[in-house]
Amino acid sequence: MRLKDKVAIITGAGMGMGREAAVLFAGEGAKVIVFDINAEAGQETAALAEQAGGEALFVQGDASSEADVKRAIDEGAARFGALHVLYANAGVLWKDRDKSVVETTEENWDIVQAINLKGPFFLTKHGIPHLQKAGGGSVILVGSISALAGFSLAQDSYTCAKAGLIGLAKSLAVQFGPDGIRCNIIHPGMVDTPLQAPYLDEAKKKAIAAEIPMRRLGLPRDIANAALFLASDESSWMNGAEMVVDGGFYAM
Ligand SMILES: NC(=O)c1ccc[n+]([C@@H]2O[C@H](COP(=O)([O-])OP(=O)(O)OC[C@H]3O[C@@H](n4cnc5c(N)ncnc54)[C@H](O)[C@@H]3O)[C@@H](O)[C@H]2O)c1
Repeated sequence: MRLKDKVAIITGAGMGMGREAAVLFAGEGAKVIVFDINAEAGQETAALAEQAGGEALFVQGDASSEADVKRAIDEGAARFGALHVLYANAGVLWKDRDKSVVETTEENWDIVQAINLKGPFFLTKHGIPHLQKAGGGSVILVGSISALAGFSLAQDSYTCAKAGLIGLAKSLAVQFGPDGIRCNIIHPGMVDTPLQAPYLDEAKKKAIAAEIPMRRLGLPRDIANAALFLASDESSWMNGAEMVVDGGFYAM
C-alpha cells in the first residue's frame, strides 16, 4: 500500500501507460481521478482501478482545455477530499501530421503543443494549489527520449513540447520545493501502447527491439512502476530530476 490515503489525478488514463498507472496506483491504495477524452476507455480504466482495490472517479475532458482540466481537479478534490499527485501523462504522437518543421502546418504544430505542453500547464496551474493545501505532493511530467536527442524521423512539435516540459519540471521543482511539492519528469523510450500501434507491425517491433540494449520494447508497466515510485513518499527527496526509462537506448 505504497500510496495509501493519497489522491492522484492521471491525465490520459484511458489507455496505455496512464491506464496501467491508474490500476497500479489504485492497487497501492490510491484514490484515482481518471481523466481522458475517450469516455469508454476512461470508464473502463476506472472500473479496472476499482477492481484493483482502490477508488476511482472518471472525468471526461480534453487535456488542452483549461475548463475541462479545472473541472476534473475540482470534482476529484471534492469527491476525495484532497489531492496529492498530479500525473500529466496525456499526450499525442501524430507522425502523419507532425513531422519536420519544413513539412508541418501551423495548425498541426499548435494542436500538438496544446495537448502535450499546454495540458500540463493547466494541470499544474490548477492542481498545485491543492497540493499546497495538502502540505505537499508530487508532480509527474512525461517527456520522451525524443526530447533528449535528434532523430532522423522528425516529429518537431512533439519533440519541442516534450523538451518544454523539462524546463517546466525544473522550474516547478525550484518554485514549490519549499512547499513540500516535488516535480520530476519521466522520459520513456519506445513503449508498446496504443499510441505507437498505428506505426508498428511485428517486423518493425523486432527491428526496434534489436536496437535497444535490453532487446525489447517497453511495456506500460515499466513506466507505471517509475511513476509509482515518484508518486510515493519513497521519492520524497527527488526533485527536478529526469528519469530515463528506455531499456538503455539513450545510453548508447
Ligand atoms: N508510447 C511511447 O513509446 C512513448 C514514448 C515516449 C513518451 N510517451 C508519452 O507517454 C504518454 C502516454 O503515452 P501512451 O503511449 O500511453 O499513449 P496512448 O495513446 O496509448 O494513451 C494516451 C491516452 O491519452 C488520451 N488522450 C489523448 N489526447 C487527449 C486529450 N487531448 N485529452 C485527454 N486525454 C487524451 C487517449 O484517449 C489515451 O487514453 C504521452 O505523453 C506520450 O507522449 C510515449
